[in-house]
Amino acid sequence: MCGIVGHVGPVTGTGSDRPLTVLLDGLSRLEYRGYDSAGVALAGPSGLDVVKAAGKLEGLRTALEEAAPAPATAGIGHTRWATHGGPTTANAHPHRAGHLAVVHNGIIENFRSLREEVEAAGRVLVSETDTEVVAQVLDLDFSERLALAGQGADAASVLVASMRAVTARLEGTFALLAITDQAPGVIVAARRSSPLVIGLGEGENFLGSDVAAFVAFTKRAAEVGDDQVLALSADEVRVWDKEGAAVEPATWEVSWDASAAVKGGYDTFMDKEIHEQPTAVADTLLGRVDERGELRLDEMRIDPSVLRSVDKIIVIACGTAAYAGHVAKYAIEHWCRVPVEVELAHEFRYRDPVVSEKTLTVAVSQSGETMDTIQAVRHAREQGSKVLAIVNTYGSTIAREADAVLYTHAGPEVAVASTKAFLAQITACYLLGLYLAQLRGTKWIDEVADYLDTLAQMPASIQRILDEQAPAVKALGEELSSHGSFLFLGRHVGFPVALEGALKLKELAYVHAEGFAAGELKHGPIALVEDGLPVFVIVPTPRRPMLHGKVISNIQEIRARGARTIVIAEEGDSAVEPFADHIIRVPATPTLMMPLLTVVPLQIFAAALATAKGLDVDQPRNLAKSVTVE
Ligand code: F6R
Repeated sequence: MCGIVGHVGPVTGTGSDRPLTVLLDGLSRLEYRGYDSAGVALAGPSGLDVVKAAGKLEGLRTALEEAAPAPATAGIGHTRWATHGGPTTANAHPHRAGHLAVVHNGIIENFRSLREEVEAAGRVLVSETDTEVVAQVLDLDFSERLALAGQGADAASVLVASMRAVTARLEGTFALLAITDQAPGVIVAARRSSPLVIGLGEGENFLGSDVAAFVAFTKRAAEVGDDQVLALSADEVRVWDKEGAAVEPATWEVSWDASAAVKGGYDTFMDKEIHEQPTAVADTLLGRVDERGELRLDEMRIDPSVLRSVDKIIVIACGTAAYAGHVAKYAIEHWCRVPVEVELAHEFRYRDPVVSEKTLTVAVSQSGETMDTIQAVRHAREQGSKVLAIVNTYGSTIAREADAVLYTHAGPEVAVASTKAFLAQITACYLLGLYLAQLRGTKWIDEVADYLDTLAQMPASIQRILDEQAPAVKALGEELSSHGSFLFLGRHVGFPVALEGALKLKELAYVHAEGFAAGELKHGPIALVEDGLPVFVIVPTPRRPMLHGKVISNIQEIRARGARTIVIAEEGDSAVEPFADHIIRVPATPTLMMPLLTVVPLQIFAAALATAKGLDVDQPRNLAKSVTVE
């Protein structure tokens, strides 16, 4: 939520356009994190300029053309998802206070008392944001220290001292970047619980909410830990802990290329990411099976004896990631005979959950920065549980705080609504289940190799759906674009797929859509069925006759009440034909692995329907990619 970017380059006599070029590129790559407003601040030989605009980045570009800011040596930029105060230009970041400009991602919980303090000191606030309050507190402290230090003081060091003193007083979460006209070749920053990464360049350095902010310019990245303060100049990055001791940040090479985060010929990122799903699944499987067909999860740093003694697994996640957790429940309980609970992360820590040293907590997150999930991870660890993170973003907070990480290798997901990360999460959950079955020696141990073979075939099966079914599904999306209500039904692993299908449609097309367990229908939701209501039904394989038969009955029940049935069924399943108004076929596969296939047409449908309505499928209204506030 909110994207932050910073750049500092060589201090030349005149400054240059480089900071602005970097900031705009970074902001365009981070816009998925929030797009209510955007702004930049530039510091250079001729002072400090702030330019900002409500709305998407285009608004900022226009404002910059008019403002024509002076060449600069350092700059900070921000794309906002509003928390405190509406999405207006006044509330947009950066916020200026005296000699400083500040951008912020997070929420300052004690901003009211701080606001009273700065107002009592005579400062006049022009926005409703918590960030402006912090900017003012910081500038008051900075001005006082500068005055005390006298002429010739090193303003950058003074700003570092102010940043440390002020952030120690802040309650809540923040990634804060500040620049000043008193030291225009430096960015001073700090973070607590909100994401912030350093990009290490040649004669220039960068900051970003994630590596996408600077990957077009450098692939060398460095971590920023909680409560650390840092100062970036063109040729130096210095980091301190909260006591002021110097810290050597861990560095890594970003494994993906900037081209991974551009549309590459597709109309939308969503379309591109849907088509990248075969690769996302294949990459998540890559290198995890040895030549003897055994599953190797080398990154699983949790002692095997601990994993053998686990008596309960709790999956914590939000939204789409939680639906991947639902699929994990079916698979892991079946293969490992260990009870699995799936809990929305934001509910978990507020209800006194039963967690012990024998609980394995699995946190599933694309961004690794979802604040609800971070807090749940912390709560689980405090209760003595080991935490395994299934995360897509390298070096993210959840990845760093967990005891072990199983990375999904979906690559950068830019469209706000999740698609390829979901398939990669499900794949990683299967790997975890099979690994635990192998380790614990359950009765399924002999089947692990067969399941791994099946998983290896999934990318080709997904590709077939994209090649053979997508045109008809898109046409259906266009045809049904005037409908205001949809139902999605599924049983067993088809249930979380139904929930995900409904969520995609709500998010992308802003229509009412509900997912239900098909068996629940007669307990209430069937009252919603009326003439012409489109109902998607995810049909299990006919090789599970009991399950299959029950769903066929459900289709008959809704059809008898006038529903227009859109059935997702396995190739060759002729039993569905008499009751289906539309059939979408998926290749035959074992029941547990069907979600990797059955969800794909639902994603395509939602995107097509939203496009037909003229909506922005990459950046749906009110949403942000990383929900970094609770
Ligand atoms: C839906 C969607 C969200 C996320 C959820 C968790 O399309 O993208 O529901 O799945 O906000 O985000 P992560 O996986 O980053 O923790």
